[in-house]
Amino acid sequence: MPELCGISLAHRVINASGTYDAIAARQVFGDAVLEEFPFAAFVSKTITPEPRVGNAPRRIWETPAGMLNSIGLPNKGLAGFLEQDLPRLAELPVPLIVSVMATSRPEFAKLVEAVGARDEVAGIELNVSCPNVHSGLIVGEQPAETEALLETLRPLTAKPLIVKLTPNVADPAAVAVGAERGGADAVSLINTLKASAFDPATGTPALAAGHGGLSGPAVRPVAVQQLRAVTAAAGLPAIGMGGIASGVDAAEFLAAGATLVAVGTESFRDPKAGSRVAAELDLARPKEATAHSALDLE
Ligand code: FUM
Repeated sequence: MPELCGISLAHRVINASGTYDAIAARQVFGDAVLEEFPFAAFVSKTITPEPRVGNAPRRIWETPAGMLNSIGLPNKGLAGFLEQDLPRLAELPVPLIVSVMATSRPEFAKLVEAVGARDEVAGIELNVSCPNVHSGLIVGEQPAETEALLETLRPLTAKPLIVKLTPNVADPAAVAVGAERGGADAVSLINTLKASAFDPATGTPALAAGHGGLSGPAVRPVAVQQLRAVTAAAGLPAIGMGGIASGVDAAEFLAAGATLVAVGTESFRDPKAGSRVAAELDLARPKEATAHSALDLE
């Protein structure tokens, strides 16, 4: 049975944070969502210390083989999450990983202490890579800052700490090494690529924020390359993501060094993409292969 940092999982496919609203899905589709839950673990939308309304619309824009988003981390804040969302997410039939983001080490510490103290939570993802909020990226841009953040957070919880890396730096592997030195248990990558589009009808920026993050199949080769570099440099397990839409795509990420894969943008098109990718992966992956030898990419 696959596992990540001691968390046992039914298969290797989880969701990318913020791309599948499990609470809304259950409201719409009922308990069928629990019976056929598409992912082997659930990663929450990122929460912040205080509530956020997110960015002004338009927040999403379709691009060739991808999607731009500038959502801006709307969420209920720590207290609202613990009171309203956590009890509902705890009813999911899979381990829960809570994604957190703050703009200072003390604020990150507050989130990790509070979330880490909850038995319902199996692990914590540290989002140091959101391109859509002011100063959301500073920590994850710098290996030394990432290391210092982990040194602050590591003593606060025994739960696995997973660092979500940004692709928007020259050397993501150096940031992963910083995370490892600071005491991280795993990394996840990639978050979205910073990008812009203009609306041809108006000649103005397509997103109200002026720019956003690109996801979907367009980013997949970038993600595979960065995943290879990160897993070669750091000894941490990696959750690979970036445009995975099929089992063949997922097998490519496992071949490049991922321990697990995450499905993101594809879930907007097909809400059951997680289980489909897991089933296809079973067929796509050479039976004798190990994570590092399933495909020869050279
Ligand atoms: O804008 C957003 O909510 C996106 C978050 C992220 O990419 O981490």
